[in-house]
Amino acid sequence: MRVHVVDHPLVTHKLTTLRDERTPSPTFRSLTDELVTLLAYEATRDVRVEPADIVTPVAPTTGVRLASPKPLVVPILRAGLGMLDGMMRLLPTAEVGFLGMVRNEETLEASTYAERLPEDLSGRQCYVLDPMLATGGTLAAAIRFLVDRGADHITAICLLTAPEGCQRLDDLLADLDVPVTVVTAAMDERLNEKGYIVPGLGDAGDRLYG
Ligand code: PRP
Repeated sequence: MRVHVVDHPLVTHKLTTLRDERTPSPTFRSLTDELVTLLAYEATRDVRVEPADIVTPVAPTTGVRLASPKPLVVPILRAGLGMLDGMMRLLPTAEVGFLGMVRNEETLEASTYAERLPEDLSGRQCYVLDPMLATGGTLAAAIRFLVDRGADHITAICLLTAPEGCQRLDDLLADLDVPVTVVTAAMDERLNEKGYIVPGLGDAGDRLYG
């Protein structure tokens, strides 16, 4: 598994305002949207394309277009939904599937309560959206779900990650024969005893949707 921390002053600037406890929900939502678009630019660096012949007003030339099958974008409900528009701005023709997952705040175990994904993901590139990679349980379960259906290339976009969660995710997915990349705006210091990322930004779902 590869973790890519996007090092860009605009990313850090937007993330700083997101972290600030004084930032109200409407601002939090719009900043999340902007930040995801910046992360998506990095995350789609290896999106699959194929040659495309076109004619400009001046001359014929060859460019690229997205290869088939189109990528699948999977926001993890609830908080991942706040990242969908920012992602689709860069990949407007992608297909979207949904996974509803919740973490039990006592055991920190993730469970799935909703799923609306194509049955067959053979040969698909998947982009998973989840703002927080804390203990890594949610993302590990989501990625396994997609790989079990045939996905062969996974990129997760997370606003924030914790070192313990990244290590655990790597351990939990060690048996998978599929490339997994996590693109994030920051790797924070640690998790606290409640499984929250420190310094983090609090509960992303609550800050997005109250
Ligand atoms: C949060 C967050 C991630 C998950 C991360 O979701 O949005 O999905 O916890 O935790 P983990 O890495 O320890 O598994 P939550 O369960 O609070 O649900 P929500 O999105 O509905 O708020």
